[in-house]
Amino acid sequence: MRVTGTGHASMRIDTAAGSILCDPWVNPAYFASWFPFPDNSLLDWESLGQVDYLYVSHLHRDHFDAKHLRDFVSKDATVLLPEFPTSEMEDEFRALGFTKFLKAPNEQVVELPRGLKIMIQALTSPTDGPIGDSSLWVEYDGVRLLNQNDARPTDLSVFADLGHVHAHLLQFSGAIWYPMVYELPQAAKTAFGKQKRDRQFDRTWRYIDDLKADHVFPIAGPPCFLDDALWQFNDIHGDEGNIFPDQSVFLSEYAKVGGTNGIVLLPGSVTEVTTEGATTTHPVPVDEFFANKVAHLEEMRERKRPVIEAEKASWRHPEVDVLGQMKQRIEPLLEESIYLAKGVGGPVRFDLVGYDGESVESIVVDFPGKEVRPYADEKVRYRFRTERALIEHLLFIDEVDWVNSLFLSCRFSAARIGQYNEFVYAFFKCLSEERLQYAEGWYDEHERSTDAEDITLGDWVVQRRCPHLKADLTRFGIVEGDQLTCQLHGWRFDLPSGRCLTSVGHKVRAHRVDAEAPAPAGEAVI
Ligand code: FES
Repeated sequence: MRVTGTGHASMRIDTAAGSILCDPWVNPAYFASWFPFPDNSLLDWESLGQVDYLYVSHLHRDHFDAKHLRDFVSKDATVLLPEFPTSEMEDEFRALGFTKFLKAPNEQVVELPRGLKIMIQALTSPTDGPIGDSSLWVEYDGVRLLNQNDARPTDLSVFADLGHVHAHLLQFSGAIWYPMVYELPQAAKTAFGKQKRDRQFDRTWRYIDDLKADHVFPIAGPPCFLDDALWQFNDIHGDEGNIFPDQSVFLSEYAKVGGTNGIVLLPGSVTEVTTEGATTTHPVPVDEFFANKVAHLEEMRERKRPVIEAEKASWRHPEVDVLGQMKQRIEPLLEESIYLAKGVGGPVRFDLVGYDGESVESIVVDFPGKEVRPYADEKVRYRFRTERALIEHLLFIDEVDWVNSLFLSCRFSAARIGQYNEFVYAFFKCLSEERLQYAEGWYDEHERSTDAEDITLGDWVVQRRCPHLKADLTRFGIVEGDQLTCQLHGWRFDLPSGRCLTSVGHKVRAHRVDAEAPAPAGEAVI
C-alpha cells in the first residue's frame, strides 16, 4: 500500500485494487484565514485527482474544498460517504458534479472489487465537526491503515478488532480559536494555550497507545495563517502557549514519551507500507524543511497575498440589513429550540466593527427571550466582536454554519462570563431547520438516556460514561484529589458536587467509595 502525503489531512492511498484520495484541501478556508501547511498548491493535482475513490471525512472547509474538488478531482471517482444524519455532504458533492456514491454503512466493512476493503466510522453528535466527522479504515493484501484525521472517537476498538493496524494517521495539533481570540491578559492566554497544547498531545498519545499501529503519521494540521492580521498564530514566535505545533514538534514530543515510529509526510512524500515495515521518500529532507519554516511561510505569504486581497474584496455587502436579516433567520430557530436555547441560557452579543474600524452596531441574540434585537445595556453570557463585513457576507451567502466560517476564521475576539458553553457554538452551527432539528433530537435522546453503570476510580465511584460525549472513563478518566478529568476533550469535574468545571451542565454522578450512593436526580441537567 502506498501513501502519498498531499498536505494537512490529505493523502492519496494507492493499492493494486484502486486508489483513494482523502480530504484534498488547497484553497484558503474560513475567510482566507487558514492555508495548508506546508504549501501543497504546487503538487501535480491534475494527476493526483485521477482516482477511483474519493473520501472526505467531513464538511469542515479545510477538508471539503469545493473549488478544488470541482476543478481537480475526476467525476468518475466513486465518493465513499460516511453515514451522516443529514444529506448535506452528498448534496454538496452532487452540486459539484459527482454522481457515483457508495454510502458506507456505519462501522461495517465494505468489500470493494479486487480485494480492497474499507470501513467508515461516522461520528454524529452536534459537536462532531459540522454535524458529523468520520474516520476511514482501509485494508488491502494484509496491510491495514486507519485515517483517523481529526475525528475523536471515544475509543478505537472497532478498528483494532479488525486486526493489527500498520499505519495510523491522526491529528496532533490545534484546530480551534481557543484561547487566542479571548480578551484575556497575555499571561492567562499563554497559560491556557499551554494547557491546551499539552492536552492535545496527551489525547494523541492515548489514541496511539490504543491502536498500537506499526507506524504513526501526524496529520490534519497545523494550518498556517498568512494574513498579516493573523500571522502571530503561526508557531514561529517561541510562544509556549501556541496551540498549533507542527510535525517536527510532534516528533520531538513523541520521542519524550518513547515514541520511535513517527513518520512525517510532507506534500509529495511517499511511504510504501507493508506488513514488514515502511519506507519513505521525501521531496526535501524533513529536518531541512522545518529548519527553514519561517522562510517557507514568508515566501508563501508574499505569493498568496493577492488571493487574500481578492477574498477580502468580496466580503462587503453594505446593502445587507444585518439586524433585520439576523432577526428573520434566527428568530424562527430560537422559537423552535428547546435544548440548545436552554443550554445557552442567556443573551449573546455581537459587536460589529465597521469598515473604518469604528464600532457601529451591537446586536443581541436573546435566547431566553427568543428574539434578536439591539443590545440593551444588559449582562450577556458571551460577547463576540468582529467585522460587520464578515456578518454581511455570512448573511449574503446564507451560511448555515457560523462555526465552519466565522469562528474558525479566528477573525473575532470573544469574552464570556463563566464557563465555556458548548451550546452557543452548537446553535451557531445549526442555522438551518434541518440541522437544528437534528441537534435538538440528539440532545433530547442524549439527555434521556440512562447511564446506569458505575466504575471505581481511586477513592471515587463515578458513572462509567463521560457526561460530555460518553467516553469510557475506565480508559479516559483520571482522578486527582477531588477532581475527575476526562482526557478525550480534557473536561474536568468536581467530584463532591458532580459539577462540570469546564462547561455548563453535564453533571457527573459520583460518590466516595466508602459513602452511600446518592438518590438519583429527578431531572436531567443541560
Ligand atoms: S467525552 Fe468529551 S470530555 Fe469526556
